[in-house]
Amino acid sequence: MAKKLFVKTYGCQMNVYDSARMADVLAPHGYEPGETPDGADLIILNTCHIREKATEKVYSELGRLRALKDEAARQGRRVLIGVAGCVAQAEGEEIARRAPVVDLVFGPQTYHRLPELLTRALDRDGPGGARVVDTDFPAEAKFDHLPEESRGQGAAAFLSVQEGCDKFCTFCVVPYTRGAEFSRPAADVLAEARRLVAAGAVEITLLGQNVNAYHGEAPAGGVWGLGRLIRGLAEIEGLERLRYTTSHPRDVDDELVAAHRDVPALMPYLHLPVQSGSDRVLAAMNRKHTGETYRRTVDRLRAARPDLALSSDFIVGFPGETDLDFADTLRLVREIGYAQAYTFKYSARPGTPAADMEDAVPEAVKAERLAALQQLIGAQQTAFNRSAAGSVQPVLFERRGARAGQLVGRGPWMQAVHAEAPDRLLGRIVPVRILDGHANSLSGAVVTTDEPGNPADRAPAPAATERAIA
Ligand code: 5AD
Ligand code: SF4
Repeated sequence: MAKKLFVKTYGCQMNVYDSARMADVLAPHGYEPGETPDGADLIILNTCHIREKATEKVYSELGRLRALKDEAARQGRRVLIGVAGCVAQAEGEEIARRAPVVDLVFGPQTYHRLPELLTRALDRDGPGGARVVDTDFPAEAKFDHLPEESRGQGAAAFLSVQEGCDKFCTFCVVPYTRGAEFSRPAADVLAEARRLVAAGAVEITLLGQNVNAYHGEAPAGGVWGLGRLIRGLAEIEGLERLRYTTSHPRDVDDELVAAHRDVPALMPYLHLPVQSGSDRVLAAMNRKHTGETYRRTVDRLRAARPDLALSSDFIVGFPGETDLDFADTLRLVREIGYAQAYTFKYSARPGTPAADMEDAVPEAVKAERLAALQQLIGAQQTAFNRSAAGSVQPVLFERRGARAGQLVGRGPWMQAVHAEAPDRLLGRIVPVRILDGHANSLSGAVVTTDEPGNPADRAPAPAATERAIA
């Protein structure tokens, strides 16, 4: 009989991807993924350790799962609970001590060994027996031991091309939880992309903790950087859109800039974290760039692709950050102009160099700075969205909207676009006239043309006979 699997994912897109691959690994062993933990035989929390809050969420979920596991046991059913991802990697045995409900703990580098780990967990004799903990960085490459994707991911798919990080920003746990940089061979990436497209993907987002540090073995020897990989991917028939995330300003090389100039499928939207606008803080963060070098990188990218919109990550309240430092951050935001951004209060992570730094910023000051930064970025985002009104954008419809008859998709600049549209347009790129821009989304009306097929992504829709598709 089929067993039921429930995977709950926290954190970044990398975890979303890993969760899907865990389901692929378990499918041949009779596990079918479900939408809720009720009735599941195996529950996996794929966790995030990046900030304290993310970690605490995992422990409160484990508290809730204890009740579910006890209830199932009363009915004579055994439920296995696994913790995967970065909390598992960072805390290992500690998780089992803090939350005895957990049967197995495994890090991001070992989920290809899941079937074997599960067998060991199922063999475990009664409560209190040894839990299965596997947080190695094994010598064998995980990707060589994963089955091919068993399911497509739909029209907009993710593809992991790079993992780990060698940058060691002083606030960040990633180099410790995900380990050293590793790039998948380009031939493997191309093959996976072709499979995704055959299964219905028209857009692929390349994933990596530091994706533009990509340096994969080239198909015919040598090494490909990310720009070259993007050119290779863009040749795949039916692949209309490419994106990549998340990148580091230091690794934007000329080849990548040229790809933004030459590859129409590469969407004009880039997440390029800067963290702070103050050179003093950037140095203490070990970011290896200054405000000025970041500005120059953005200039190069915008010269190559003038309609490029930017997103970023910011940390406020890093140890020692003064009012003047923070003013430099606000100045940088005003100068660059963002389409959207993520803002975080600094959160000390055990084991990172910044956790031992002096001059902690008081919580109240962090909160004040966060609010000021969010207000500025929110205003930029709203202005960016409003400026879309009147334009026609190619929109990839991905799902039904909350209102009947409405679909939601994404335009080139990552904005969510709502429009009345029939279900048959799901998974297709369709020209949409933007009627209004709001704080977090756009609304529009589908445009039809006399020509069959999709419009070129980059060009504005041809002079169109405009009517809503009924
Ligand atoms: N505190 C606050 N924010 C952090 N980030 C990473 N580590 C921390 C931390 N210790 C943020 C950075 C990074 C994003 C993914 O999370 O802005 O780019
Ligand atoms: Fe963390 Fe810095 Fe690496 Fe990004 S570049 S994953 S912030 S260490």
